[in-house]
Amino acid sequence: TFVVTENCIKCKYTDCVEVCPVDCFYEGPNFLVIHPDECIDCALCEPECPAEAIFAEDELPEGQEEFIAINAELAEVWPNIAEKKDPLPDAEEWDGKPGKLEHLER
Ligand code: SF4
Ligand code: F3S
Repeated sequence: TFVVTENCIKCKYTDCVEVCPVDCFYEGPNFLVIHPDECIDCALCEPECPAEAIFAEDELPEGQEEFIAINAELAEVWPNIAEKKDPLPDAEEWDGKPGKLEHLER
């Protein structure tokens, strides 16, 4: 399973959703998640993310482990997204900022 991690928050570029063959991305106000039971581990989305926020579950950067549970939880409640849309307005400004988890909107 692949996991969307912290740097997606407040960026939400959505390039990832276009390449997913099983449409397993789900969208919140300022973050996307991957449904862990639907992802087929194709790895196509990982290089598409301009924010480099997508990782294989077993290759998560240190400190990003909690995003496994966050993806699983929110994929159950957020709506599906399969088409790219504009990034959030301040995406470039927020790209790479540390400590974005506190800004996650549910
Ligand atoms: Fe979709 Fe493949 Fe990414 Fe899983 S690894 S979310 S199946 S594009
Ligand atoms: Fe987020 Fe990257 Fe997709 S910023 S919306 S995981 S392209």
